[in-house]
Amino acid sequence: MQSVADEKHDTASINRSPVIDARRLVKRFGGITAVAGISLVLQQGEMIGLIGPNGAGKTTLFNLIAGSLKPSSGEIWISGREVSQERPELRIARGVGRTFQIPRPFAEMTVLENVLTGAQEQDGERLFANFFNPGRVAGQERAAIDKARSLLSFVTLSGLENEPARVLSGGQRKLLELARILMADPAAILLDEPAAGVNPALLETIMERVLELHAQGKSILLIEHNMDMISRLCSRVMAMASGRHLAEGTPDEVATNPAVIEAYLGGAA
Ligand SMILES: Nc1ncnc2c1ncn2[C@@H]1O[C@H](COP(=O)(O)OP(=O)(O)OP(=O)(O)O)[C@@H](O)[C@H]1O
Ligand SMILES: [Mg+2]
Repeated sequence: MQSVADEKHDTASINRSPVIDARRLVKRFGGITAVAGISLVLQQGEMIGLIGPNGAGKTTLFNLIAGSLKPSSGEIWISGREVSQERPELRIARGVGRTFQIPRPFAEMTVLENVLTGAQEQDGERLFANFFNPGRVAGQERAAIDKARSLLSFVTLSGLENEPARVLSGGQRKLLELARILMADPAAILLDEPAAGVNPALLETIMERVLELHAQGKSILLIEHNMDMISRLCSRVMAMASGRHLAEGTPDEVATNPAVIEAYLGGAA
């Protein structure tokens, strides 16, 4: 079988393809249509905000793109390749990293060990499986430890690397997740509510780190209810409600769109 690494180099045209191209995605859970025909294109280097009231289908859309759910219909393309039926590990290897709305680190493992769980080999296998096998700490794995340390420094958690993850605050857990997914060098990063439940000081750190990743050329999809964060980080926003596409444009355009206002008021009623 051709490896993901080989495929990444197989044509120049792939490099011009959007990093993520979701086409008419539908996801049904029994009688609920959580995602009802969403198309979304994330170009290289773009940062797009995704907003919508609770239950709009935002996280389900992430699950479809990241592969933890299979679509009822529609297609997902990553860097010019259709991946709709591929498992999540392969999508990570193809360059899609996602954080979870509610981070669940391995509580009794150290912060450093948690970051190491994000290490991938090119074929999508987890490097981590070999970490605690005595005598098998090869050069590749030592390189992974160095990389995990540098990512912990990037997310300002170096001082906590030997602490169990259970001591981390909500905001620190979000930063830990970011470091974990960066282990696989994702081209596209999907962030599911990175600001939710985070104290203001740490929120600033999270925003800075996301901006820095964007400046490094990462393509980013950002789910957030915090419109201030969306306005500061994103030039383009998509709004959805009840699984459907509602509006798209600049943060100001979308925030003042009557259909978007109506959806939020309807949700609050
Ligand atoms: N595994 C599942 N089984 C059944 N229904 C689900 C499942 N996951 C999500 N849903 C339903 O799909 C709809 C969309 O949920 P989703 O979590 O995608 O919304 P969201 O936009 O992320 O909301 P929030 O802002 O609250 O996180 C909701 O009605 C939810 O109850
Ligand atoms: Mg959600």
